[in-house]
Amino acid sequence: MSETLIGVVGGGTMGQGIAQVLIQSGFQVTLCDVAEEALERAQTGIAKGLGRLVEKGRLSEQDQQAASARLATSTSLDALADRQVIIEAAPEAAELKERLFKELDALNHQAILASNTSSLSLTRLAGVCQRPERVVGMHFFNPVPVLKLVEIIRAEQTSDATVARVEALAKAMGKTSVAISDSPGFAVNRLLVPMINEAAFLVQEGVASVNDIDTSMQLGAAHPMGPLALADLIGLDVCLAIMNVLAEGFGDPKYRPCPLLKRMVDAGYLGRKSGRGFHDYSG
Ligand code: CAA
Repeated sequence: MSETLIGVVGGGTMGQGIAQVLIQSGFQVTLCDVAEEALERAQTGIAKGLGRLVEKGRLSEQDQQAASARLATSTSLDALADRQVIIEAAPEAAELKERLFKELDALNHQAILASNTSSLSLTRLAGVCQRPERVVGMHFFNPVPVLKLVEIIRAEQTSDATVARVEALAKAMGKTSVAISDSPGFAVNRLLVPMINEAAFLVQEGVASVNDIDTSMQLGAAHPMGPLALADLIGLDVCLAIMNVLAEGFGDPKYRPCPLLKRMVDAGYLGRKSGRGFHDYSG
């Protein structure tokens, strides 16, 4: 594939995972974040991820070093002026993403501008850009080094050439892509998050305990982890935001967010990242 210079915006869990898979796959990556500490944390996380593969004998030490050397970091978006593809994985806030896309659109006229948004409209994001045909969704799944899927989300304005290029990029990253039209929750989250929401209703109604709900889906439906443990991994705030997007986007009461989920988010019980969600991670 022709792309070699990739930018990743956002050094959180998703940005880290995406950058790791890219450098492992031979791409030159510049990772941007506003905070120097976030970049340091991301570099540590990526080094740990690569180290894990070396320990398992899936990556040679030589390839690990070569991959590490392909990663650069910057606190300035200007470092992305020469990139061929920029993947944005900033926090899930519409205003922030729209501002970032405006800046990237003005800064770099040739790059594909991809967003890893899990819930926002790509058509709206493309709408803030002068060259909206190059805006597309590349939705990865956590943990990115493990999960093979990328949803490629086509905004109303996205060109066929843009879709073809990101499909090739996903393939070169060792991922399988699926083509999705811009629609609330896309495909995976529209299926997955209402299940999590329903699991929260089961807890709220006292139908079963948190552990028994998770065990039910692990052993009764062969899910790798139960819906409540998964909610904790995704972040309860993210789950709630996705339910709100579904509820507003479709206006259908079947997407009503569970009141318990709302209360937990209000209380700051966000899952693994806050040390407490449906399960306790303080230990
Ligand atoms: N980074 C890299 N590798 C990881 C990892 C991480 N954070 N976590 C686990 N792994 C690897 C392990 O090293 C292990 O690798 P090997 O098989 O090669 O040894 C493998 O994944 C399995 O891990 P474990 O044995 O430790 O544990 P597990 O079998 O319970 O798997 C899991 C852990 C991969 C997280 C698995 O439970 C799983 O896939 N869960 C479902 C996750 C899921 O559904 N994610 C999607 C969330 S939705 C989303 O991300 C999109 C959104 O918009 C909200």
